[in-house]
Amino acid sequence: MNADLSNDLLAWYDRHARTLPWRVPPGSGAKPDPYRVWLSEVMLQQTTVAAVKGYFERFTARWPTVEALAAAEDADVMAEWAGLGYYARARNLLACARAVAACGGFPRTEAELRTLPGIGAYTAASVASIAFGQRAVVVDGNVERVMTRVFDIATPLPAARNEIRAYADSLTPSERPGDHAQAVMDLGATICTPRSPACVVCPWREPCLARKRGVQKDRPVKPPK
Ligand code: ADE
Repeated sequence: MNADLSNDLLAWYDRHARTLPWRVPPGSGAKPDPYRVWLSEVMLQQTTVAAVKGYFERFTARWPTVEALAAAEDADVMAEWAGLGYYARARNLLACARAVAACGGFPRTEAELRTLPGIGAYTAASVASIAFGQRAVVVDGNVERVMTRVFDIATPLPAARNEIRAYADSLTPSERPGDHAQAVMDLGATICTPRSPACVVCPWREPCLARKRGVQKDRPVKPPK
């Protein structure tokens, strides 16, 4: 069943993947640039895709490689970051770029990525899978919402997190794990939206337990006050 879910999702992604400046279109055969994947994932934490696009374009035009970013002046990077918020992220970004440049490139595994400044569980998993094709379980807010609906998880957040991760793990394929991760995030951003999910066009409408039970808008369950 889970192989079917993953195949249906990848087929949907092949047709409907969003075009994003850091993304390699599915099926193009092009290799994603780890620097661009990492930079986008750091920027996308707590910031929307729409807000990130312009910043991403300006950063990569000015610093096209991790080595270029590593050599930048702190003040220039902080100035380009202005408006994105969470300035600790910008400081970590620079520290990470310098560590990566000093090592001659990004490490490929989730565990090694995790040791770099500013790289937490989410960023390590997303870079390992999207940039390097490693099987890693990517969980962000969109993924959480999708999992609580498909599997009708009624446990409130944050207590549901382990359960959510286990389901996300059960769906993650070893082939195309990066496309799978991006597909779940796109599904959450464009179809399985918080207030009015577009279930009729969802590739998971048939298996979705919350939809079957009519409770999709009540998932995820918010933490008790
Ligand atoms: N949100 C954060 N990272 C993303 C990605 N790689 N694809 C789609 N949405 C995202």
